Amino acid sequence: DLDLTAYDPVGDGAEGGHMHREMLDQPAAAERVLRGRLDERFGTAHLGGLNMDARETRAIRRVKILGCGSAYYVGQMGASLVEELARIPADAEAASEFRYRDPVIEPDTLYVAVSQSGETIDTLLAVEEIRRKGGRVIGLVNVVGSAIARACDGGIYLHAGPEVAVASTKALTTMFLGFSLLALQLGRTRDLSIADGKRLIAGLQALPAQIEEVLKSEDQLALVAARLAEAESLFFIGRVRGFPVAREGAQKFKEITYRHAEAYQTSELKHGPLALISPVVPTVAIVPDDELADRNVAALHEISARGGPLVVVTHPDVDLGDVRCERIDVPRSERELDPILMTIPLQVLAFHAATTLGLDVDKPRNLAKSVTVE
Ligand code: AGP
Repeated sequence: DLDLTAYDPVGDGAEGGHMHREMLDQPAAAERVLRGRLDERFGTAHLGGLNMDARETRAIRRVKILGCGSAYYVGQMGASLVEELARIPADAEAASEFRYRDPVIEPDTLYVAVSQSGETIDTLLAVEEIRRKGGRVIGLVNVVGSAIARACDGGIYLHAGPEVAVASTKALTTMFLGFSLLALQLGRTRDLSIADGKRLIAGLQALPAQIEEVLKSEDQLALVAARLAEAESLFFIGRVRGFPVAREGAQKFKEITYRHAEAYQTSELKHGPLALISPVVPTVAIVPDDELADRNVAALHEISARGGPLVVVTHPDVDLGDVRCERIDVPRSERELDPILMTIPLQVLAFHAATTLGLDVDKPRNLAKSVTVE
């Protein structure tokens, strides 16, 4: 599944040949990362590459995830998965910051480095620093045999296949699924029930087809994207599980459209950002069908009342009342897995906004695919 010949280096004739192809490869990439790793009988995952036995995984008291850019944002999604499924305190930090402070390295913390290229210098140096101080690091890495993969104590290869476009899409999806597998395995060596494990597995197995379903709404998303492309500045908002989704959405949008796109927590709206809402500043809101849906809808009313255009990524059962918006429904999944299905339409929006603006989606200005020098 690392066959480079399957990739047309010239692209498919349109700007963004690689990114487009890589977005559409996501259902297949999702199947590849899951293949052979799910144990339906015992409701768990098998990740032999972690090089840890059950006693060692039970001894973990914290999980600390490190990555840069989109890998950092998906690391935040991963931290939620670990906390929800394994009930281990977890957080993510930008590796580029971590390496410049003097972090306390704890023996019962599992450090997780996440990287598509496996060559990002900030992430690599963070891994080396942790190992120098005796910490255990596992990698979630796409490129086999890369520097980060070699520097870690063990890990999970992502099998996304080659990712050429600067804007990460399918690697990010496989990272999310890699974290789901890790959280499932950690959870099942602790208090996660077999029933919950099986529920998660069914959810994971349904994801490739659900991703495909989201991608089928590309034509509708392209129309919304063309309108968003007109704005000089826009916001992406989400709460708890939805916040890293908003961060990744803003990241993708700014990377390839060069528009100012900023993410913030929906809960922070009244603490400052509301001052900037106006008819020329659209907001893309992440509103899953969860226990926070009512609060999220109340925030949409606040934005709408100030004339702010809204695009709402949500689930079919969510009642948005009379909020004026472009509604984008994604299929329901298990609640822990919602973030990845809500991320996919944001990739498509960014892609089509950039192509509307006539930009070279695959090679955005000032950016390299992987940052290997300081
Ligand atoms: C993603 O769209 C970006 N191009 C960028 O943030 C990227 O995720 C980051 O540089 C980390 O790269 P890596 O996964 O190869 O380590």
